[in-house]
Amino acid sequence: MNTISVEQLRTWLDEGRPVSIVDVRPLAQRQEWAIPGSLHLDAYEALNAHDAQALASLDLDGSRPVVTVCAAGKTSQIAAEQLRARGLPQVFSLEGGMQAWSLAWNSATIPLPDYSPQVIQMRRTGKGCLSYMIGMGAEAVVIDASLDPQIYLDSAARHGWQITRVLDTHIHADHLSRSRELARQSGAMLLLPAQQRVSFPFTAIHDGEMCGIPSLRLMALHTPGHTMESTCYLLDGHILFTGDTLFPASIGRPDLEANKTEALLRAHALYQSLHRLLALPADTLVLPGHTSAPVPFDGVPLMTTLSEIDERIDLLHAKRADFVDTVLARLPAPPFNAARIVQLNEQGVLPEQALTELEAGANRCAIF
Ligand SMILES: [Fe+2]
Repeated sequence: MNTISVEQLRTWLDEGRPVSIVDVRPLAQRQEWAIPGSLHLDAYEALNAHDAQALASLDLDGSRPVVTVCAAGKTSQIAAEQLRARGLPQVFSLEGGMQAWSLAWNSATIPLPDYSPQVIQMRRTGKGCLSYMIGMGAEAVVIDASLDPQIYLDSAARHGWQITRVLDTHIHADHLSRSRELARQSGAMLLLPAQQRVSFPFTAIHDGEMCGIPSLRLMALHTPGHTMESTCYLLDGHILFTGDTLFPASIGRPDLEANKTEALLRAHALYQSLHRLLALPADTLVLPGHTSAPVPFDGVPLMTTLSEIDERIDLLHAKRADFVDTVLARLPAPPFNAARIVQLNEQGVLPEQALTELEAGANRCAIF
């Protein structure tokens, strides 16, 4: 059986190699998330019923490799067999399916002047988790690590950087933070917003403190709301890492398991925090912690400016009471496995097994 690993397919897409990706999952699963550029044919039932015509309507370019995809990598093998039987020369089934694809990633470099620090956006394409590596001189800082620590270590090494600081913007509920493990493997200092939630050692960051390497002006801005410890980081006074507090077209949700009183408190805090951010210069570059759509392998950074956000999000112009009412009325369902993920992040535990099962599902950190 010819299969392809997530890493191999990720590399092909990263290199721009032509490939036809055929997603055979049911429509509802496809709508949750998908591999950028993939074709969809809702053939799940027909394939499992061994209907030889299940993929008959597909018109594929025989000169390109074909990769079939399903939820966990089984039905896609049936699809691959059928396509091979049609005479297509290179057909592979994606190992582990979309569940394994949850760990696939790509990156984009933020265009900045030569003399400034380099900022790389590292994107977990399926889940939409965005992390950042900031390099300056021989050192690098990583914010919100959500990928295998080795990916950051390799990327830093390619740039001639040693990772010396690892930061999180908040205690995450949608993915397992890799920051503690990355700090351990790199020997970097682990910095987290001051809070009493986690049960492992870290260096606490408070509002207004500088938290980067000495050559980097990276300042913490405590912006409670999404969670009470949520903190944004401002680089050189004009590049803002907003975590889950502010997105290009939406705002962060007051966090998950909060009861009514707590949610009200957080919605008020969020209002204050967002307005604090909006008071920064209008051309401040905003680099968020998540995106809701699968990230293409296009090398284009997901970023915007505060002024664009200000124009785009009406709710930012609402009066405090209306803002709070709207936020509370629109709270979305918590992310899949949120309570368990929060618990593991508070314990600083990164289970080796079942990582992708725990983190399955689309991201739901934004409020709209
Ligand atoms: Fe979050």
